[in-house]
Amino acid sequence: MLIGGVVLTGLVMSVNDDRVEDLRRRKSQAAGGGGQARVSAQHAKGKMTARERIESLLDDGSFMEVDTLVEHRCRDFEMDRNVIPGDGVVCGHGTIDGRVVYCFAQDFTVYGGSLGEMHGLKICKILDMALKTGAPVIGLNDSGGARIQEGVASLGSYAEIFFRNVRASGVIPQISVIMGPCAGGAVYSPAITDFVVMVDKTSHMFITGPEVIKTVTNEEVSFEDLGGASTHATKSGVTHFTAQDDDEALSIVRELVGFMPSNNLEKPPISGTSDPLDRSCDGLDKLVPIDPSQPYDITMAIEEILDDGAFLEVQAGFAGNIVVGFGRLGGHTIGVVGNQPSVLAGCLDIDASIKGARFVRFCDAFNIPLLTFVDVPGFLPGASQEWGGIIRHGAKLLYAYAEATVPKLTVITRKAYGGAYDVMSSKHIRGDYNIAWPTAQLAVMGAEGAVQIIHRNRIATSGNPEQERDRLVDDYEETFANPYRAAALGYLDDVIQPSKTREVLTRALGALLEKEEIRPARKHGNIPL
Ligand code: HXC
Repeated sequence: MLIGGVVLTGLVMSVNDDRVEDLRRRKSQAAGGGGQARVSAQHAKGKMTARERIESLLDDGSFMEVDTLVEHRCRDFEMDRNVIPGDGVVCGHGTIDGRVVYCFAQDFTVYGGSLGEMHGLKICKILDMALKTGAPVIGLNDSGGARIQEGVASLGSYAEIFFRNVRASGVIPQISVIMGPCAGGAVYSPAITDFVVMVDKTSHMFITGPEVIKTVTNEEVSFEDLGGASTHATKSGVTHFTAQDDDEALSIVRELVGFMPSNNLEKPPISGTSDPLDRSCDGLDKLVPIDPSQPYDITMAIEEILDDGAFLEVQAGFAGNIVVGFGRLGGHTIGVVGNQPSVLAGCLDIDASIKGARFVRFCDAFNIPLLTFVDVPGFLPGASQEWGGIIRHGAKLLYAYAEATVPKLTVITRKAYGGAYDVMSSKHIRGDYNIAWPTAQLAVMGAEGAVQIIHRNRIATSGNPEQERDRLVDDYEETFANPYRAAALGYLDDVIQPSKTREVLTRALGALLEKEEIRPARKHGNIPL
């Protein structure tokens, strides 16, 4: 029989046992990575191998590897004597809860997971395939950085990755898990991706390491303090999630992916819930203290309202005065943003503005409706905030909300003062459904401050300044410290009893799911950075 001019019987003959054995040997060499001693060293550090990580990340048996047999082509430093198929990174695709994802896992047992030319190009292929097919991409990073022996070819491959990360931004979700070292310019791929998960104690991210810092600035700092998970979770805000070990990190990724659509043209997956849509949230009627200076925890309201009380908080350890995260309402993914009155009274500061803005932009890029809880006395006063650029950073949050075209639902629980009222998804920047609880106060500022400014002379010239101030404060609160002025102007769509919030929001979201809003065509906006 002739196929393409080749005699098939001859072909069958040529695929003999030796050839199959050769293939097996090559694949097994690739699977063995840098050898048993290095695998054992990896395990001794509490880390899984690249292949074990992929197995744990994906649905059982769903992984299909590509580029198993790629090799580096470096001939310097005797590298031609040390060629390991796969070149230190395991790449391919599989599924998470039945949905296709692309992934790569750097193999620290092969040249320390360092990124050479071909290693980098393997990652590029995965990014290209994910973008072409509209599927999320998950990178498991564990690498000594640029492969020193390959020099500029390694830097070239890094830049090819960065370029693709940027091109895919807002088109497919990109998640980075840091499971070992990630240093120097290598940090910029994770930094560009949408979410970073770090493993506590075994992962580190920094631009320059402790030794360079010591030489240049004379500062002494440990690896852990400089770039460990807890530093990036609390000080820098670089990481969005911290896991106790590899397994937990990968399960966070699975949960995260479950909230997201596969790409920007899809809607997020709908998940069934047995939580009644009209469930009364009785605890909320008493949540907000009558005294406006008393704190309370906004996550109690968030968890009470969401399906099954399930809230995946993002960046929980950073800028605690704003809370962001994912949940579901009636089975639909929703991105939640809330001022947190129990931290800095819920004031917006630089970090909170940046944290909120980035989250709002992710949700908007991926068609995830936004639910905003407002209890904000304003922007945090202080010279350090002003000098740090609260003007341009606060503008990011305003910009992000105004730019977002996804359904926007807003609940004002208590204070909505000043510019922060406008910023926090107000009607004026196109909130779609804005409601308030009876405890809400929509005003330029709180009563004490307002009375001090507008009645300064009257108080000073009064026979009893203290009594006069108290009377004026009461008067101001009576007039402004409520939601009814705003409701009368149509700035609020309704004022509701707090216990009805879940029912009202679920119905409002149902009516907004097909919302479409077209903005003027432009190359891109110019968000204040
Ligand atoms: C080549 C590397 C390597 C690298 C590690 N290895 N980093 N090989 N290029 N960048 C190799 C080691 O030689 C060793 O090989 C194996 O990986 C494991 O490394 P160890 O040092 O034994 O492991 P450990 O003690 O755990 O230390 C890990 C480490 C350290 C902290 C990552 O290896 C290290 O500091 N490496 C250099 C990091 C670095 O300076 N990278 C360049 C950063 S600049 P054997 O054969 O002994 O097992 C950068 C620029 C990117 O990345 C720019 C992008 C634009």
